[in-house]
Amino acid sequence: MSGGVGTAEATTEAQIAAALDVMQRAYAPYSGFRVGAVLRASDGTEYAGCNVENSAFPAGSCAERGALSAAIAAGRRAFTTLVVATEANVPTPPCGICRQALVEFSGDLSIVSVTTGGARARWRLSELLPAPFTPASLSHT
Ligand code: THU
Repeated sequence: MSGGVGTAEATTEAQIAAALDVMQRAYAPYSGFRVGAVLRASDGTEYAGCNVENSAFPAGSCAERGALSAAIAAGRRAFTTLVVATEANVPTPPCGICRQALVEFSGDLSIVSVTTGGARARWRLSELLPAPFTPASLSHT
């Protein structure tokens, strides 16, 4: 089964629409905070994820890492754009754990956050995580 939801021809507006769509399938009965995420790979393919909560709270997972897992499972390793969609009043950036997960693959990722109310914000991952721990950090020399 493919996690792909778009092609190289997909527009950013289509990526935003896909993030708002997958947000509606989030499983968030405990927080009531639904999140959708669509990650675009360098070849233009897109991968969707939503948050999946659990009655054992720490077992829940974020939308961004769901999208990342789908992309990695499909063989993608480099990404250009992430769209995050929520119902919050103000566009929200990825949490710290998701920033760390994303920087492993794309330090220069462009992140767009949108709300169902129509608000939008944009960051680069490098500004959200300015001093990242990366694979190079593991070097002993
Ligand atoms: N959540 C995400 O899916 N992504 C984020 O970047 C922040 C938080 C989820 C986790 C939890 O299910 C809910 O939002 C409230 O924190």
